[in-house]
Amino acid sequence: MTDLPATNSDELDPEEQRVLAAIEAELPSMPAGAQNLIPILQRIQQTHGYLPRGGIYLVARHLGLAPSKVFGVATFYNQFRFNPPGRHPIKVCLGTACHVKGGEIILENFARRLGIEEGETTKDREYSLERVACVGCCALAPVVVVGEKIESYVTPSKVEGIITEIEVRREMAAREEERNES
Ligand code: FES
Repeated sequence: MTDLPATNSDELDPEEQRVLAAIEAELPSMPAGAQNLIPILQRIQQTHGYLPRGGIYLVARHLGLAPSKVFGVATFYNQFRFNPPGRHPIKVCLGTACHVKGGEIILENFARRLGIEEGETTKDREYSLERVACVGCCALAPVVVVGEKIESYVTPSKVEGIITEIEVRREMAAREEERNES
C-alpha cells in the first residue's frame, strides 16, 4: 500500500497548491460526520479530477478523523486517483480479452515510453497512465483508450506511433495558437 503522503507545501507544484487551496475553501460547505467521508472524497475527485494527497489531511481535519483513516478508505476503493489526470489520459484495457492478447505488455511499453508507472502522471501533466477493466469492444483487443479515442489491436510497436501522433497534434495546435496570437 502507498504511504501516507507528506504535507510539505514547498514540494508541491503551483497547480497542486491551487487545488488544495480550492478544496480548503470548499470543505466548510460540505457536511461533517464520518458517514460523509466517501461522498466528500467523490465530490473532490469529481470537481478536480483527482484527490490530491494533501487533500487527505484537509478532509481528515474537516471530519475530525485521523489522516490514516481517510487515506485507508481512499486507497481501498479503486475509484480514487491520487494524481491529476494528464491532458492525454492513456487507459490500457486489462479486461479478460485484452489481458489474454497481451494488454500487460502494452501497459509496460507505455510505462517505459512515458517514464511513469500506472496510476501516475508525467511531470508536465501531458500524460497519465492507468489500467481499466473491459471497455466493451473485446473484438478489437488489445484495446487502449487515449482521451476519447479507441486504439484497437495495439501492439508494442504501435505504442510509439500513438505517442508520436499525440505529439504531432500538440505541435500543430501550438503552432496554430502562435499564428492566431501574431
Ligand atoms: S477486455 Fe478489453 S475491451 Fe473487453
